[in-house]
Amino acid sequence: MTLPPLAAYPALRLRRLRQTDWVRRLVRESVLTPADLIWSMVVHEGEGQVPVGSMPGISRFSVKDAAAAAREARDLGIPAIAVFPHIDGAKKDAEGTLAHDADGLVARAVKAMKDAAPEVGIMCDVALDPFTTHGHDGVVRGGRIVNDETIERLVHQGIMQARAGCDILAPSDMMDGRCGALRTALEAEGLQDVMIMSYAAKYASAFYGPYREAIGSGKLGSGDVENPGDKRTYQMDPANHAEALREVALDIAEGADMVMVKPGLPYLDIVRQVVDAFSLPTFAFQVSGEYAMLMAAAQNGWLDEERAILESLGAFKRAGAAGVITYFAPRAARLLGA
Ligand code: PBG
Repeated sequence: MTLPPLAAYPALRLRRLRQTDWVRRLVRESVLTPADLIWSMVVHEGEGQVPVGSMPGISRFSVKDAAAAAREARDLGIPAIAVFPHIDGAKKDAEGTLAHDADGLVARAVKAMKDAAPEVGIMCDVALDPFTTHGHDGVVRGGRIVNDETIERLVHQGIMQARAGCDILAPSDMMDGRCGALRTALEAEGLQDVMIMSYAAKYASAFYGPYREAIGSGKLGSGDVENPGDKRTYQMDPANHAEALREVALDIAEGADMVMVKPGLPYLDIVRQVVDAFSLPTFAFQVSGEYAMLMAAAQNGWLDEERAILESLGAFKRAGAAGVITYFAPRAARLLGA
């Protein structure tokens, strides 16, 4: 395409609307506020806080600290917290039996946070991986992650979480049919007000690496047939986009109230496609590897840390997301002047 010379557009000067802060604010197309953030938080059984090496600035919280963090979230205007458990190795087995432990870490953390700050929403991951020795999200039989048997366990886990006071169940396991099974069980148990935010389009991604350290996940691929080396038979192929829309459509049909795309920034095209195709709140998860990349560059002096945090989170809003699950939540809320 050949353009006429610039002189042909004497009136077209897009820089006019960029010249001062007031006019930039006036014409801004999307805005990030603390109300867009879901605080991704790791809890552990012990006392105090344990730093996560691959995630500078992030620590595992004790149940007591998680309760204090819930009050902090409330004061910062952060609507919700997503809680992930670091489970002691001794409590894991091949089938993730303790995933539905009503006296376990997740139940205790949820109760403590709801007691401390009932006005903050609590979201729980529905998946077996924190509880399995091999780190897979489901039960493995003959080298396969078996779908339907896993779902039975996920339903027990989700009902336990809901009874503990969890407001949003977030199935992150990618088994087929899990949203429908959870929704049916919630209705049957009189827990119809509990929401489901499905990890609808969740990709088999390298960017989850630091999370596995954070929750002390079992090592995938020990060489044993019962421990496949990756999650590609259940999580999505990063090359696909049409399939993401099928996943989202199915989860909506099964009763999901909100959906999520994960990881975040590398998959913004998927966020935009989902937002345009479906009329329901769509979230993105800025995952552990995205956090680690940004912090590593910032710590080397290669990026302006605060600007990069806010720019990366703002990008989700521009793409149409209702909000972002992020480890930066409390920091970002403070930077936003909460
Ligand atoms: C597992 C789960 C994962 C994350 C959230 N839930 C990892 C995985 O699927 O292997 C990743 C979170 C992150 O990287 O921050 N069900």
